[in-house]
Amino acid sequence: MKSLKQLSVSAIENGTVIDHIPAQSLFNVITILGLDHCTNQITFGTNLESKRLGHKAIVKIADKYFEDADINKISLVAPSAKLNIIKDYEVVEKKEVQIPDSIEGIIKCVNPKCITNNDKVKTKFTVESKENVSLRCHYCEKITDQEHFQFL
Ligand code: CTP
Ligand code: ZN
Repeated sequence: MKSLKQLSVSAIENGTVIDHIPAQSLFNVITILGLDHCTNQITFGTNLESKRLGHKAIVKIADKYFEDADINKISLVAPSAKLNIIKDYEVVEKKEVQIPDSIEGIIKCVNPKCITNNDKVKTKFTVESKENVSLRCHYCEKITDQEHFQFL
């Protein structure tokens, strides 16, 4: 029988562990962080049991440390995510993700007439609400709310 202390995904020596990702957001997290183009060793587990989330996912990226601004981009899909900075097998720092005040790229503007949907203009939003996240388009001022998030 599996012992209680056994890890579902092996420990890493150095790098970043992103824990407590809602299972349904795993692939969005991977895309947002560009991990699909990353050559570092990456291990992940999903549909793992979690008391808080029901089912969680975890991603471990060896030998990589992210800028806060990059990590905060995942707050849109995984506000519950916890970052663990690993050095020499030890957790040396824990961080929570913060919803940023503005977002560039990542999400489509809901307005089909918006310049970002018709020209090669990158989307840009100010975060209007951090509770139930809603984004105001910098160009057309229309609000895109969480229920209408479409990832680029
Ligand atoms: N971890 C890892 N490699 C290490 C050390 C830790 O992959 N060398 C992972 C653990 O598997 C865990 C996360 O990093 O998923 C955080 O480790 P730790 O703080 O020891 O675990 P918990 O106390 O369970 O974390 P929390 O309650 O903060 O989620
Ligand atoms: Zn717009």
